[in-house]
Amino acid sequence: MEIIITPSSVEASEHAARIAAALIRAKPRAVLGLPTGSTPLGFYDQLAAMHARGEINLSEVATFNVDEYVGLGPEHPRSYARYMREHFFSRVNIANWRIHIPNGLAPDIPAHCEAYEAAIREAGGIDLQVLGVGSNGHIGFNEPGSSLGSRTRLKTLTEQTIRDNAHFFESPEQAPRHVITMGVGTILDARRCVVMAFGKEKAAAVAAMAEGPVTASAPASALQLHPWCSLMVDEAAAAKLKRADYYRWVYANKPEWQRP
Ligand code: GLP
Repeated sequence: MEIIITPSSVEASEHAARIAAALIRAKPRAVLGLPTGSTPLGFYDQLAAMHARGEINLSEVATFNVDEYVGLGPEHPRSYARYMREHFFSRVNIANWRIHIPNGLAPDIPAHCEAYEAAIREAGGIDLQVLGVGSNGHIGFNEPGSSLGSRTRLKTLTEQTIRDNAHFFESPEQAPRHVITMGVGTILDARRCVVMAFGKEKAAAVAAMAEGPVTASAPASALQLHPWCSLMVDEAAAAKLKRADYYRWVYANKPEWQRP
């Protein structure tokens, strides 16, 4: 895993956006796996700005979101579908029919999850999976204990995740307890992964992800098995990394031709 420590989330978001932009220029029909949450907001801002400046054309890009709350329709103000429209899709030119987000109102959730996996396969697989990390080490909504081979399915959230996300809802009681999420195995199938984590609340999860054992107790640690995964963290999120100096050294010596 490549670990890039940046002074703040701004540089990390710019870096992640440059990776996505380089992919889209090289492969106009690129398939992106996309996250929600507060972490990727800067990334979406950067891509939208590049699009506004005419630097990237996303008309042939396809997207697959990692997760969605069960019980919330696409118009619900807290649904991830709504988040994606507000923060990204309304600002770029991705064709509506190429946008995929799990349907939180699907009447038959197992069938919907299977169809979601099939749609990813039919699109040719995910070229770039962008991810955030939960403070308990979850990726997507794969909570601790998730099978490292899991595929898209229904999950029950931990109480900690419900608390972490409760500020998005009027009261904690209104926060959904169930979600549809790509599995850890689905995420590992992506050709490239870019993970971002910012702030001291993420420091323990980042250390477990990058330097802890590969374990279902910290689902993000499964990314150690991925052949091409870059983790971008700010100083606060990097605070518990034991080999931080080495990661800085590696990045400082990264050959120019390897930079996006
Ligand atoms: C949420 C999302 C994840 C996200 C993570 C971190 O619950 N399901 O996809 O990466 O938790 O959220 P945030 O970026 O707001 O810290």
